Amino acid sequence: MRERSYHIITFGCQMNVHDSRWLGSALRRRGFSEAPLREAEVVVVNTCSVREKPEQKVMSALGRIRQETNASPDVLVVVTGCVAQQMGEELFRQPQVRLVAGSDGIAGAPQAIERLLEEPGSRLSLLDFTSGYVEREEGARGPAGAVAYVNIMQGCDNFCAYCIVPYTRGRQKSRLTPAILDDCRRALEDGTREICLLGQNVNAFGRDAHGDGVSFAELLRQTAALPGLARLRYVTPHPKDMGPEDVALFGELPNLCPRLHLPLQAGSDAVLARMGRKYDAARFVELADALRAARPDLALSTDLIVGFPGESEEDFQQTLALMRRCGFMSSFSFCYSDRPGTRASRFLDKIAPDVQQDRLLRLQALQEELGQAWLDARVGTETDVLIEGESRRDAENDGLKSMQGRDPYGAPVHVRLPAADDGASLIGRMTRVRITEAKKHSLMGQQAGAIW
Ligand code: SAH
Ligand code: SF4
Ligand code: F3S
Repeated sequence: MRERSYHIITFGCQMNVHDSRWLGSALRRRGFSEAPLREAEVVVVNTCSVREKPEQKVMSALGRIRQETNASPDVLVVVTGCVAQQMGEELFRQPQVRLVAGSDGIAGAPQAIERLLEEPGSRLSLLDFTSGYVEREEGARGPAGAVAYVNIMQGCDNFCAYCIVPYTRGRQKSRLTPAILDDCRRALEDGTREICLLGQNVNAFGRDAHGDGVSFAELLRQTAALPGLARLRYVTPHPKDMGPEDVALFGELPNLCPRLHLPLQAGSDAVLARMGRKYDAARFVELADALRAARPDLALSTDLIVGFPGESEEDFQQTLALMRRCGFMSSFSFCYSDRPGTRASRFLDKIAPDVQQDRLLRLQALQEELGQAWLDARVGTETDVLIEGESRRDAENDGLKSMQGRDPYGAPVHVRLPAADDGASLIGRMTRVRITEAKKHSLMGQQAGAIW
């Protein structure tokens, strides 16, 4: 075991990935270093409960930690995130666990970890929801990644019938605009080119007791104007809260990427109503059309649930029809699963797992088709790619190197470099690329000009 070292295991959404990154950087600023699981003194499991078997996943992660660390009592195990919020002190049954921190409590985790290391044998839980957004201590600075994620809010007020997030992350709490812009500026000073603003329902930014009067559209304008920002994105918007101003910005802000992840969930009005989504299929189509009128090359992606209680084959066909109508470039799709305490968990007309599975496969087959059509249509075009690292797809053995990055639509692109170029100097920079081929889930291209 290495003293003052840490290892973080992350499950769940982008917000969890971001929380883990922040916790790592806060620990590094306090003098910790990252280590493999076997060698770490502090092991953090950052958990998610949005879909099936979250408790089992956490228990099996804890089991693996126990094994890899020979159940050493000197190893401090920390459980954070949505399962920690739900299970709470029950997690102390596993002897190595000495800190349980929920969605708001994670802000206090770095201090708590220091304290627990000084007081062997003690335990702490940080499970309260706070009334406002808790600002977090600054992490270690260093060369930034090509993309920086910045939180703009915590929690969600929507209570969609199937969803556990409002219970695990608490009510919506907007962050203050100056703090958001400071985080963005810092990332840009450290070399980031692209910023992604994060929240469970970003369009509702500012519309809670904690906002400072700045709307989401205004926040986007102010962020887009920061010097050095090449690309701006956000996730996740809610169709019901996406107003005309939010739509129009796709035509106004040149650095706002022409890609939107807009969760549809289902294509049938009856299912949408029982999900409590507060929009219908016609409204979604109208929104998709308005977005494409504002920005004709806009690419849409989505989240879909199949087998929601009461979903008939006909309802499901409407989901497929809407997917075609909207031409999603990609989607995340899931079988509905009961989450404890949610409204839908008490609905009686559950769909049999084999029917759910069959629908999921049919939906995913259609998505493959739509995704491939979208990728195929890109061949022959020129685009800008933000290089993130070396490509692992160096198949062609001709001695030329490939780098990997993303185009403005977020699609992965493998870029072949001219001979003799080592590529390292391209990481974190933007380059012009001609797309030569579409693979199954990515594009191949050749460097075709300027780097900036
Ligand atoms: N706030 C975001 C993300 C919510 S969780 C949004 O509103 O889109 C991410 C996705 O998980 C959801 O969009 C939904 O498709 C899926 N999901 C949430 N609860 C689920 C459940 N009980 N069963 C299956 N999928 C679920
Ligand atoms: Fe869950 Fe709905 Fe909130 Fe998204 S908007 S986090 S699906 S309750
Ligand atoms: Fe999972 Fe919590 Fe995110 S339930 S999806 S980690 S908000």
